[in-house]
Amino acid sequence: MTANSATVKVGDKSVDLPVKAGSIGPSVIDIGKLYAQTGMFTFDPGFTSTASTESQITYIDGDEGVLLYRGYPIEQLAEHGDFLETCYLLLYGELPTASQKADFVYRVTRHTMVHEQMARFFQGFRRDAHPMSVMVASVGALAAFYHDSTDISDENQRMVASMRMIAKMPTLAAMAFKYSIGQPFVFPKNDLDYAANFLHMCFAVPCEEYKVNPVLARALDRIFILHADHEQNASTSTVRLAGSSGANPFACIAAGIACLWGPAHGGANEAALKMLGEIGTVDNIPKYIAKAKDKNDPFRLMGFGHRVYKNYDPRAKIMQKTTHDVLNELGVKDDPLLDVALELERIALHDDYFIEKKLYPNIDFYSGITLKAMGFPTSMFTVLFAVARTVGWIAQWKEMIEDPSQKIGRPRQLYTGAPRRDYLPSTNR
Ligand code: SDX
Repeated sequence: MTANSATVKVGDKSVDLPVKAGSIGPSVIDIGKLYAQTGMFTFDPGFTSTASTESQITYIDGDEGVLLYRGYPIEQLAEHGDFLETCYLLLYGELPTASQKADFVYRVTRHTMVHEQMARFFQGFRRDAHPMSVMVASVGALAAFYHDSTDISDENQRMVASMRMIAKMPTLAAMAFKYSIGQPFVFPKNDLDYAANFLHMCFAVPCEEYKVNPVLARALDRIFILHADHEQNASTSTVRLAGSSGANPFACIAAGIACLWGPAHGGANEAALKMLGEIGTVDNIPKYIAKAKDKNDPFRLMGFGHRVYKNYDPRAKIMQKTTHDVLNELGVKDDPLLDVALELERIALHDDYFIEKKLYPNIDFYSGITLKAMGFPTSMFTVLFAVARTVGWIAQWKEMIEDPSQKIGRPRQLYTGAPRRDYLPSTNR
C-alpha cells in the first residue's frame, strides 16, 4: 500500500506532506510547502534523493539496470529501431507510423544545412581548439542566425527549433572535426540517412567518391539511440534550468553541451579511452585497480560507476556488442585497448571494492574503443555524445516549457558564511 502522505517532525511541530505516486518507480514527497510550514529547506547538494520534475519521457531503474524511452526498453529500440524513429518517439511520445516517420525524416533532412556564414564563424577558432569548445560556441551562435525560432511561447517555433537542433548538430559536429584536421567542410546529402550522412560529412573528401560502410552506419545509428536520453542527468538538468528562465533553445542546448563536456559526465568516454591507453597492457591493470581503490588517490576508473545504475548499465552491454561488430567489420583482430578493457572489466566485476560500491561499466566504457576504430579522434567522442543527446535535451526542454505549472528554477542554500558585520575602514583591518 503506497503512503499518500509523509509526516516531518520539526521540534514539537508535525508537518504532513503529500506523497505523489508515478506510473512506475519511486513515489515522491512533495516538499513545496515545507519552507512555508517549517522555515526550513531540505538539503541534498548532489540531488541524490531529489526529483527535480515530473516527466513522461525516460525511466531508469538503477537497481535492475532498466532503461525505457517512453516505456520501450532500450534493448528493443536499439535492436529493431533507428535513431530518427527514436527521436520521433522521444519528442512526440509514440512510435511513428510509416507515413509519420517519412514526414519526420523529410523535415529533419531538409534542416541539415547551416547558414553559410556559420562557415566563416569557424574561421575564428584555432585549428587545435577542442571540438567541444567549438560546439558550445557554434550552437550558442545559432540563435544569431535563426531568430525566427526563438520565441518559446510559439508552439510552431518550438518545433522548428527542435527540428533545426536535431538536424544541424551532425553538420556542426562534422564541421568542427573537418576544421580541426584542416580539411574542407562537406555538405550534408539528402539521399543519406542520419548516421550515414554524418559519416559522409566527417570522412568524405572532394578528391574522391566516399562510400559509407553500411555496417558502420548501422553501428553509429545504434550508438546514437543508446545516447539519446537519460532522465534528469547533469546536462539535461542544465538545459531544463537554463530553459526555465525563458532562454532560447539554442542557448539552452549550448549550456547542455558545456555541462556534458565534464569528465564525470559525457567527457568520460574520452577520459576512458585515454585511461585504457595509459594502462597500456593487461599486466598493468592491478596497479590501476589499486589506484582506483586508494582514497588518497584522485584516480578513478573512467567509464565505471554511475549515480543511478547500481547494476550493469544496459547501454554498456549493447555498446560492447556494437564494439565487436565494428572491430569485426574493420578486421581489427586484436585491439590492445579492447584486451585491456575486457580484462579490466573482468577483474573489477570480481573485486570486492567494486562489488560493494556497485561500480559497473557504464556506456562510456566501450564507446571510445568503437569510435576510435571508426576513425574518430578521442577529442570527437563527447561531440558524438552531444549529437545523440540533443534530441533528449530538446524533448525534455519542450516538456518543461509546455508544463503549465513550470516556473523558473531557483534553489536555496544552507548558508555557513559570516553573519552580518559592519564595514571596517582599511586603517582598522
Ligand atoms: C554519464 O547521470 C547520467 O545519467 C549520466 C549518463 C547519461 O547518459 O547522461 O549516464 C552519462 O555521465 C555516465 C558516467 C560517466 N562518468 C564516468 O565514468 C566517470 C567515472 N565515474 C565516477 O566519477 C562516478 O561513478 C560518477 C560521477 C559517474 C557517479 O558518481 P556519484 O554517484 O557521485 O558516486 P560517488 O562519486 O559518490 O562514488 C561512490 C563511491 C565513492 O567512494 P566513497 O567516497 O563512497 O568511499 O564509489 C567510488 C567513489 O570513490 N567510485 C569510484 C568510481 N566511481 C565511484 N571509484 C573508482 N572508480 C570509479 N569510477
